[in-house]
Amino acid sequence: MANWQTATILNRKVWDDGLISLTLDLELEPFKAGQFIKVGLQVGDERIERPYSLVNSEDQPNAEILFNEVEDGPLTSRLAQLDKGEQLLATTDAHGFLVLDEVPDVPNLWMIATGTGIGPFISMLNSAQSQRFERIVIIHGTTHENSLAYRNQLEGLEHIDQRISYLPVISREKTDGLMEGRITENLSSGEVEKRANLELNAEQNHVLLCGNIDMIRDVQAVLAERDMKKHKRFEPGHISMEKYH
Ligand SMILES: Cc1cc2nc3c(=O)[nH]c(=O)nc-3n(C[C@H](O)[C@H](O)[C@H](O)COP(=O)(O)OP(=O)(O)OC[C@H]3O[C@@H](n4cnc5c(N)ncnc54)[C@H](O)[C@@H]3O)c2cc1C
Ligand SMILES: NC(=O)c1ccc[n+]([C@@H]2O[C@H](COP(=O)([O-])OP(=O)(O)OC[C@H]3O[C@@H](n4cnc5c(N)ncnc54)[C@H](OP(=O)(O)O)[C@@H]3O)[C@@H](O)[C@H]2O)c1
Repeated sequence: MANWQTATILNRKVWDDGLISLTLDLELEPFKAGQFIKVGLQVGDERIERPYSLVNSEDQPNAEILFNEVEDGPLTSRLAQLDKGEQLLATTDAHGFLVLDEVPDVPNLWMIATGTGIGPFISMLNSAQSQRFERIVIIHGTTHENSLAYRNQLEGLEHIDQRISYLPVISREKTDGLMEGRITENLSSGEVEKRANLELNAEQNHVLLCGNIDMIRDVQAVLAERDMKKHKRFEPGHISMEKYH
């Protein structure tokens, strides 16, 4: 049984039109970076509830979520209207297997996200466990440059930590120097590896995928050409994932 609590919105940040982070006054039970809680709103007799990854890491006290307003989305159309000081429902227990504990012992970690799928990777990057990797490559695909939530934080990490490469991929506008098109195209062409200065092979790498299910399916197909396959606890592989939509 999930443990529900009423939480107050401590902070609301708008990254782009309809792309919002909320910081919540929520008594989270111990969790692992990468896990998700449920957020809900009571609408009449019904509680509308959906899962959201935690953006905060284990030792950051307040829960933070990132979401985008989906047109006619039952929850997000309402969540987007809430302001600082207002209340919502949320679970205090977090769940999910997209966590660093589950990643085999390899030197290089690749975090590949579309849209709001960047959230759990922010949590992991701020978690002590991410220190075990020699290299971490973060690839974030969005339609527009303005939708690169947490860009400053990621560029800051890249600046201070030689192990980290942050590589945005923008699909629907021209940019000044970022990768353009889809993540899949840039993986297939070798552009991603060139920019990361790192080979993506099955021997030394693990890939985490989060966000759009089509991206997750298509990236797996690209990686299959490199003999990389889905990781299972009892059948170790190279790819772990969390599908949002
Ligand atoms: C394990 C898990 C973790 C998730 N974590 C997050 C998260 O951290 N942030 C987040 O924004 N969403 C996350 N989602 C999706 C989230 O739970 C909701 O589905 C989403 O916010 C839309 O809610 P809604 O009620 O407005 O519309 P829904 O009725 O849930 O969905 C309506 C339609 O919107 C589309 N959609 C759903 N999610 C998204 C999205 N994120 N971006 C664009 N289109 C979408 C789909 O086409 C879907 O059919 C997660 C989903 C799962 C399964
Ligand atoms: N700023 C925001 O993020 C925002 C704000 C408010 C509302 N919304 C709404 O949320 C919905 C979707 O949001 P979104 O744009 O964040 O998510 P999305 O549709 O999942 O797209 C995010 C990125 O994933 C790429 N992608 C999609 N399918 C792919 C595949 N098979 N392989 C590789 N890459 C793939 C997209 O490329 P393509 O462009 O080529 O498809 C895009 O660059 C829309 O209804 C939007 O209006 C978004």
